[in-house]
Amino acid sequence: MSTVTWIPGRQTIRFGGDYNPEQWPREVWDDDIRLMREAGVNLVSIGIFSWALLEPQEGTYDFSLLDEIIDRLHAADIDVDLATPTASPPAWFCRAYPHARAVTRDGTPLAFGSRGIVSPSSPEYRRASTAIAAKLAERYAQHPAVVLWHVHNEYGAPITESYDEYSVAAFRLWLQRRYSSLDELNAAWGTNFWGQRYGAWDEIDAPHRSGTASNPAHRLDFHRFSSAALLECFTAERDAIRAHAPQPITTNFMAGMCPSVDLWKWADEVDIVANDHYLSAEQDDNHIQLSLAADLTRSLARGKPWILMEHSTSAVNWQPRNIAKRPGEMRRNSLAHAARGADGVLFFQIRAGQRGAEKFHSALIPQAGEASRKWRESVALGADVAALTPALGSTVDARVAIAWDWESFWAQDLDWRPSVDLDHRERVEAFYAALWRRGVTVDFVHPSADLSAYDAVFAPSLYLIEDQAAENLREYAAQGGTLAFSYFSGIVSTNDNVPSGPYPGQLRDVLGLVVEEFLPLRAGERVQLSDGSTGRVWSDDIQLQGAAAITTFADGPGVDGPAVTRNDFGRGTAWYVATALDGTDLDSFVLRVLEDAGVDTSPVSDVETVVRRGPGVDYVFQINHGAQDAGAGVAGQDLLTDQAIAASDPVPAGGVRVVRVARSGG
Ligand code: GAL
Repeated sequence: MSTVTWIPGRQTIRFGGDYNPEQWPREVWDDDIRLMREAGVNLVSIGIFSWALLEPQEGTYDFSLLDEIIDRLHAADIDVDLATPTASPPAWFCRAYPHARAVTRDGTPLAFGSRGIVSPSSPEYRRASTAIAAKLAERYAQHPAVVLWHVHNEYGAPITESYDEYSVAAFRLWLQRRYSSLDELNAAWGTNFWGQRYGAWDEIDAPHRSGTASNPAHRLDFHRFSSAALLECFTAERDAIRAHAPQPITTNFMAGMCPSVDLWKWADEVDIVANDHYLSAEQDDNHIQLSLAADLTRSLARGKPWILMEHSTSAVNWQPRNIAKRPGEMRRNSLAHAARGADGVLFFQIRAGQRGAEKFHSALIPQAGEASRKWRESVALGADVAALTPALGSTVDARVAIAWDWESFWAQDLDWRPSVDLDHRERVEAFYAALWRRGVTVDFVHPSADLSAYDAVFAPSLYLIEDQAAENLREYAAQGGTLAFSYFSGIVSTNDNVPSGPYPGQLRDVLGLVVEEFLPLRAGERVQLSDGSTGRVWSDDIQLQGAAAITTFADGPGVDGPAVTRNDFGRGTAWYVATALDGTDLDSFVLRVLEDAGVDTSPVSDVETVVRRGPGVDYVFQINHGAQDAGAGVAGQDLLTDQAIAASDPVPAGGVRVVRVARSGG
């Protein structure tokens, strides 16, 4: 874990975005810089997709464009987050090294003409990407405008796993490091099933598409390998930069959006955590999902400040229907990230493009130009972000956590699970939303992390739990913690293997029950619980072994059996819910657990309230997502308007305020 705490230089919240001067003639640059200054932009990410211009032929470099734009930005007092352009290798690279192309699971090599098309295990790619990273670092290490390095772009997108020959060879080596012998691998993967036993390492291939369900342990290990291969690409570039340049180094994660790389491992390798986030137009509560992504990013940053590297001023261009943000929505979105620890609020992109695949994507400077509402909102947001400067470096405390493990998600997504309706992501979002509605700020934790700071830990659909993580959860409860699991948790261990005895093998003693049989529901089927709640998707045949049944199934395949249970374990408590509760039913379950754990909650409200703690002072962020004024009860000084707020003043409908409140007792 890096000791860097923030971007060097000016001590201010960062505001800006991705800037693509290579798409524009010089006279537009002048306009861009004038407008950036008007909006208060103080950081731009450049060079992200410039490899073909910077190295027009292999080993021949041309830095004239970067030299000029970096100097111009510096003269305008705008800092630079300088990218390595390695997410999009040039045409010459793809022609010279056709075997470096990424290959999909069904064997299609990806063609030049897009981005993200190279195998992370290609030695040619590793050599070329570290070479351009080193050249850039050598040239710009001492440039006073360059305050941050941005390696690559969104590792894991658009593809995580490449099934090319280089990847297969690297996978075999990775397996030889993971397993001391083929016998060990055969045992771990359960290869006696369907006669899949291996007699030599080079019989092992990538898990290409096959006749029917592939070996799940094989696929899970290939996913682990692929995440690790991408991470090696990052650390190789990072180290190439570090050899020349002192500035902090980051890469933009997609925490909360893209499930493909294990960001717990990545977070330890960056100096500052940075994240990209886009709303999904399909979701009604997308402001809650935004908060989830922000809390997850802060958790990856281990509580340190982080950068929102990309979000959108309005519509994106890659969803089936790209919904524009309504007036005030961008402001609420941006400040909600800040509320949850972002000390940088950046956008994709500064100026909307005229050519290429992203020309319909929104931008700080939209196609409609300076006369537009969007531009006025962007300028106003720049002023808001500047007004937050006193809160720079302040932190967010959480007493409640949700367990989050990418490996468990990957495993649950494999073939042939007991029901296609099992959806870990949906369950995590549902539990998160229930906590959000009660005003509870949440950290995300790996299940093997130190949990001692939390009064309650929720684990919705934590399907795979490694033995060590199970021990950690057990110890947390034994020492007085409150755990709450949903169905289909603790079912398998490291290699998607079911531990001996009844389900849930990893949790039986903690939960004080066994599941004799899964009782998944039919499509659309609903079951009633004895307290009037309704369940979907799932039920279990539960035998209690010490736990108390709080509610039972009133009908359905599990009729009369326990549906919600509570068990005293050591000095703590473990709850279990055997079906998918929604809306107010889930709210009631979550509230019960919180009350049991002694966690303070607020009445359900549309006002999102998050406290950032500075020395002797709290910054109370209040974001009103509703259509009514609400959220009175906080008194202090609003950083955004510099006006005094009385306890009787509500937050206007759709509005935001950040109230500075002196904290008694430090
Ligand atoms: C991000 C990507 C950007 C841009 C943006 C559009 O995922 O990093 O380069 O494509 O999406 O929303």
